[in-house]
Formats: sequence, C-alpha cells, structure tokens
Amino acid sequence: MASMRAIRIQGFGGPEVLKVSSVERPTPKPGQVLVQIKSAGVNPVDTYIRAGTFGPRPFPLGLGGDAAGIVAAVADGEKNIKVGDRVFTCEGPGPLTGTYAEYALVPTRAVFPLPDSLTFSQGAALGIPYLTALRSLIIKAKSKPHETLLVHGASGAVGLAACQVASSWGMKVFGTAGTDDGLQLIKANGAGAVFNHRDKNYVQKLREAVGEHGFDVILEMVANHNLGVDVELAAVDGRIVVIGSHGEAKFEPFHMMGKEVTVAGVMLPHSTDEEWRIIGAELVKGINSGHVRPVIDQEFPLEKAPEAHEAVIQHTGGSKGKIVLTL
Ligand SMILES: NC(=O)c1ccc[n+]([C@@H]2O[C@H](COP(=O)([O-])OP(=O)(O)OC[C@H]3O[C@@H](n4cnc5c(N)ncnc54)[C@H](OP(=O)(O)O)[C@@H]3O)[C@@H](O)[C@H]2O)c1
Repeated sequence: MASMRAIRIQGFGGPEVLKVSSVERPTPKPGQVLVQIKSAGVNPVDTYIRAGTFGPRPFPLGLGGDAAGIVAAVADGEKNIKVGDRVFTCEGPGPLTGTYAEYALVPTRAVFPLPDSLTFSQGAALGIPYLTALRSLIIKAKSKPHETLLVHGASGAVGLAACQVASSWGMKVFGTAGTDDGLQLIKANGAGAVFNHRDKNYVQKLREAVGEHGFDVILEMVANHNLGVDVELAAVDGRIVVIGSHGEAKFEPFHMMGKEVTVAGVMLPHSTDEEWRIIGAELVKGINSGHVRPVIDQEFPLEKAPEAHEAVIQHTGGSKGKIVLTL
C-alpha cells in the first residue's frame, strides 16, 4: 500500500495542530482524479476550519481546497483528463481528502488545465480566489462592462483576482488596500483609482472619486467594518456582494431602500453545475488571454503550514496576493 506525506488534523485548534504525517495514498473512484500536488493554496477559510469556527467536521481531517499539480491517476472511463496532465483544482472548502498533501483526490468537475505559462504556485492561487471573484461578479452582481466597481479589500488573493478580470472586461475599477505596497500592487493589476482603507479620510476620497452616480457593484471583503459605507456609496440598483465578514455590521437600510440596493452573500461551494461551468470557462478564457496572472505573496514548504496559517491571518505588512504551500 503506497503512502504519502499529508496534513491530517486530529482535532480543532491553533496552527500547531497542522502536523505532517505519513498516510495512505488514496485511489480515485469514478468521478474523481488523483492529483500529485506541487503547490497548495492557503485560504483564510482553512484557518476557520482548522480553528473549528466553520462548523463541525469529521477527524482525521485533511485541509486545503485548491492546488496545482500533475494528474497521477484517473478512474476507469475518464476520457478528458489523463495521467501526466498539468492541472489546477478547486473544490472549495470541504475537500475530499485535502490538498495539504503530496496527493489529493478531487472531483473531475474541479480539475482544469494549467498552461506552461503559469507556475504551479500561480496555479494554486487560481481556484478559490478567482472562482469566488467570478461568482461574485458574474452570478451574484450580474456585472456589465461599462459599470463602476469598488473592490473593498483589493490587495488580497480574491481582490486582485477581481481587479484583473473586471478591468479586462472594461469595468471602471476602484480598489482599496492598507499599505503603500498594496496600493501599488492593485494599481498594477487593474484598479484605475486606489485608496488606503486605513486612511481616516478615504471614504470621503472614494465619494468624490466616484461622484454622484456611485458604485454599480461593490465586492466587500470585510463587511462587518464596511457595509455601512458600501450602502451609502452604492449607485441606484447597486449590487453589494459580501465575500468576507468577521462580525456584526451597522448600516442604514434607508440607503438600500432609496436606491434599491441589493446586498447578496456569496459562498463558492453553493455553485450549481451550470454556474460552475460558466465561471470555470471564464477563468480558463482569462488564463488563455493572459489577463489572469495570480500574484504570489509568500511560499512555505508543507512542514511550515503553521507559519503559513499565521501569515494568512496576520498579513504583517499588508496583503500582497496569495500564500501557498509547496511540496
Ligand atoms: N464567501 C466565499 O465563498 C469566500 C471565498 C474566498 C474568500 N472569502 C473570504 O474573503 C475574504 C478575502 O479573502 P482573501 O483570500 O482575499 O484574503 P486575504 O488575501 O487575506 O485578503 C484580505 C483583504 O482584506 C483587506 N482588508 C483588511 N482590512 C480591511 C478593511 N478594514 N477594509 C477593507 N479591506 C480590508 C486586506 O487589505 P490589506 O492587507 O492591504 O489591509 C486584503 O486586501 C476573507 O475573509 C475570506 O475568508 C470568502
């Protein structure tokens, strides 16, 4: 029986529960693919699952919902994916076996081709961030190319993905970051106007920059802080998509009523097969046309997963893209 190195947590806890051990290498069943992982994405949700704040889970538990690597085995009858293919994967939180491992089982629908133009670490940065950005922009906000977009928290993995794809469609993108490096980065990735969300006057600056029309679409990474500002700055028929939130929000519903603003939550794993096909196709199109270029902030070896979890939560010095584990 073949074995592999993997992280399987035995109970909820702090980053110290992320220990590498030797476990049995899984075998794909119909509808599944075994991927040899070269790089695994570290997403904020992994830290919530690890800490036990994202609902009950069975143990031992594998972590990691996106990755890039090489197809190691396919179930009988699979025609479109073959052993040796370079791929990236994304199945959202609640993975079959978890991508923090040398090999991971993933559903066939979650396997996409990875061109040679992107590294494995860039491939590991595609799944959850880009598909969440695309689900938010296309499925939830029904964004149109001529519209104004505020990416409230643009310097992280999801925000940079949103800036790249929305600017490629022709949307007028405004982005926020909390550091000078973050501001430069979002500008280089499609935000035409940038604002520091730690600057005490930034809301007034945003208001002046967008003018009377307001924002047609707002992607919100920290809704508990910002929802009140978002409903105020939204346009008539504005759509605010709550991607991240860490507590209760205070906002004035009058702004929603007066401008017929919609606030929608997004949760990537709720994608139907048809929605998944639409956003997956748009992502592959963006990769092939070259405007999807994931930005890697930091790489950690698998054994340093505890440090990677600290980094994704604390972002000392501000976010600058995606954190990944390498194998
Ligand atoms: N709903 C879903 O399906 C889904 C999927 C993926 C992610 N998420 C959630 O979406 C959020 C972003 O994910 P991510 O991977 O991009 O995380 P990330 O890489 O850690 O980025 C976090 C972003 O939030 C910004 N931020 C910090 N304080 C802020 C504030 N007061 N106002 C506005 N922005 C602020 C950060 O900017 P600076 O560091 O520059 O200050 C950074 O741009 C997380 O909460 C994550 O859990 C949800």
